[in-house]
Amino acid sequence: MIKALEQANAGSDVILNLLKQHQGQWLSGQFLAERLAMTRSAIWKKIEILRKEGYKINSSPRKGYLLADIPDRMLIREIRDGLNTSIFGQRDIHCLEKTDSTNRRAKELAAFGAAEGVLVIAEEQVQGRGRLNRTWFAPAGENICISLIIRPPLLPDTASRMSILAAVAAAETLIAAAGLKATIKWPNDILVGSKKIGGILLEMSMEMDAVDYMIIGLGINVNTPADHFPAEFRSKATSVITETGKPFPRVFLLRRFLELLESWYRVFRESGFDPIIIRWKDLTDMLGRQVTIETINGSCSGKVTDLDCDGFLILRNDREGEMRMFSGDITIM
Ligand code: BTN
Repeated sequence: MIKALEQANAGSDVILNLLKQHQGQWLSGQFLAERLAMTRSAIWKKIEILRKEGYKINSSPRKGYLLADIPDRMLIREIRDGLNTSIFGQRDIHCLEKTDSTNRRAKELAAFGAAEGVLVIAEEQVQGRGRLNRTWFAPAGENICISLIIRPPLLPDTASRMSILAAVAAAETLIAAAGLKATIKWPNDILVGSKKIGGILLEMSMEMDAVDYMIIGLGINVNTPADHFPAEFRSKATSVITETGKPFPRVFLLRRFLELLESWYRVFRESGFDPIIIRWKDLTDMLGRQVTIETINGSCSGKVTDLDCDGFLILRNDREGEMRMFSGDITIM
C-alpha cells in the first residue's frame, strides 16, 4: 500500500517538476507521456492527483497542460522542493489538516522514539498553546504552526538555550525571507515594532539527568489580517500580511526557518552557545531598556544589562543590584 502510494507520488513529482521548469508554458500530453514512459491516460490520472492537492493545472486537448498556480498549503513536496538541510524537514513530516496542538502531537511521536528532525505541521490548530499557559491563535490555512523534534546532548538546566537559538532562527527568517524588521523580545517572542508576529514554545522530556527530547514549537502569523485576530490579541499581534500588505507563501518562510535553525544548531554543536548569544543580542532591542518582569515569585523591575551564557536575562536595579532571570513575562517600559 505504502509502496503503491510512493510510486503514484513519484510520477506526480516528475510531472510537477517538469511543469515548474516550464512555468507559463504548455506541455503536451505526448511530451509528458514520452518523458515518463507512460500512457497519456496515466499522465492524466497523475495530473488529477496534483489537482486534488490544490495545484491549479489548466488543460487543453490541443496544447496539453499548464501549471497555473501552486497552492499555499503545507505540502511535503513543496516543503522539500529546494530545501537546503540535511536533517530538519528531511525526516518524516506529519502534515495535519487540523489538530489540537502540534507540540502535543510531536511529544507523542518523540515518546515513541521519533528521531531528531521529525516535523509536525498543522494547517489549523484548535488548542494551540503558548508560553505561560496562554493560548495561541491559529486559524485554518493562514499561519505557520509547526513542532520539530530535537535530541540535543544537553543537561536540563541548560535546555533553555534551545529557545534562544530558535528565536534567532525565527527572527532571521522574517528578516531574510519577508524583509521585515523583526526583533526578539526575551526570551523568544518575535516582534515587529511593538507587536508580536511569532513565538516559540519549547517543551522537553528528561531521562535520568539528561535531555531525552525537546520540541521546538513555532507559530508565525503569516496571512491573518489585523482585523481577523480575536479582540483580545488585536492591539498586540501582527502578521506578515499586515506588515507587507500582501499574502505571503508560508512554505517559503518554513523552508528558510528550517535552514537557519539547522545551521545555528550545527554552530551550537560545533562551537558552543556563545555565537548564538552574540547573534541574539544583535537581534534584540532590549539591552539598556527599563523593564518589568512578572515571575511566579512576583514582579521585579530594572534595566536590562545583558543576556548571560545560559540565556538568562540580567537585570539591575538600585535596590537589588544584579538579578538573573530564568523566565517570566516581560513588559518594556
Ligand atoms: C508563545 O509565544 O507564547 C509561544 C507560541 C507557540 C505557538 C506554537 S504554534 C505550534 C506549536 N504548537 C503549539 O501548541 N504551540 C506552538
